[in-house]
Amino acid sequence: MAALNRDRWDLDPATTFLNHGSFGATPRQVLEYQTQLRSLMEANPVRFVAVEYRPLLAAAIVRAAGFVGADPDGFAFVANATTGVNTALRSADLDPGDEILVTDHEYEACILAAEFVARRRGASVAIVPIPSTVVDPGQVVEAILSSVTPSTRLAILDHVTSATALVLPIAEIAAALADRGVATIVDGAHAPGMIDLDVAAIGAAVYAGNWHKWVCAPKGAGFLWVTPAWRDRVRPLVISHGAGREEGEQFRAMFDWTGTADPTPQLSVSAAIDAVGGMMEGGWPAVRERNRAVALEMRRRLIDALGLVPTGPESMVGSMAAFVAPAPWLSGSPAEAATGLILRLLEQGITVGASARRGSPDVFLRVSAHLHTEADDVGPLIEALRGWG
Ligand SMILES: Cc1ncc(COP(=O)(O)O)c(C=O)c1O
Repeated sequence: MAALNRDRWDLDPATTFLNHGSFGATPRQVLEYQTQLRSLMEANPVRFVAVEYRPLLAAAIVRAAGFVGADPDGFAFVANATTGVNTALRSADLDPGDEILVTDHEYEACILAAEFVARRRGASVAIVPIPSTVVDPGQVVEAILSSVTPSTRLAILDHVTSATALVLPIAEIAAALADRGVATIVDGAHAPGMIDLDVAAIGAAVYAGNWHKWVCAPKGAGFLWVTPAWRDRVRPLVISHGAGREEGEQFRAMFDWTGTADPTPQLSVSAAIDAVGGMMEGGWPAVRERNRAVALEMRRRLIDALGLVPTGPESMVGSMAAFVAPAPWLSGSPAEAATGLILRLLEQGITVGASARRGSPDVFLRVSAHLHTEADDVGPLIEALRGWG
């Protein structure tokens, strides 16, 4: 059966595409809009920057911020969530002896960024161990809170974990950490478009997210939102003309120009919100609900057919489902085994996510559902894996 709206994407029809989560996928209509913007820019690059860019950017900020419950004054576009998390980390006040808390389900690149910043400040990173298979959200909350020490200043936490695809109770965790004097940077790379977001209500110091994953914007569209108390502190990784402005104006000016770049992914976010939200009656709430239902159905089928062990309870599933990959499928280090799993399935025309996580021997297989996916798409994956033992 053809998937709902499948023909609105340019995805290779010869491929069973079950990894929307890693890099998103953009509907043709949004790419066409981006092409129009690029044509406008290239018709006269000077006019575009001097005249057209600012109003387009201001409108994009208002629309995008509104979609995630952020006030525009504390919202800035960045290239991606990795940039957002790095920006927050490099801007945080950290002294020698301070501790940054992360979990061992956190996206590896962001653990590495925390370790880089900690080393330079004489601080350290404490990695909270959480099992590969989580029983309930309370287990994660308890593990994090019981790891806070008098030296803990900052926590970096995924809203939706990457390898294990678990939706964490981030507002509960951020509030409890704030009570203990710990600021939270949320890595919400997967959250916009997957979860009904109200970033300002979460109580984090900084929330970083992506538009190019679940909102399906062109690649290179991320954001960060900064709580008012941190707006004079958080500065982009690249310092440019905005640094010459008055203190109160710097946040906006510095983030809105970090040197010449292609702004069309960010200027296309509104088009993506409209296009994808418009594909279902009921708009974005219906899209999120449908994608979660498909992810849960694919999960049930994989468990029933192959006896796979999921990484957590159904209540922690968003639009992705992850499983511990059985040992017979793997060879080499966990990172090598994850890449091997992806490549072996790619050869059979099936695209999945697979990755390892810090300090664990486990490898995780992950499937994703968006409007171009049907639960039946998991059939070829089940057939392929059945033969693997
Ligand atoms: C939790 C998490 N953080 C960060 C990223 C990186 O996203 P990006 O490459 O868009 O910066 C990912 C990507 O999958 C992720 O899962």
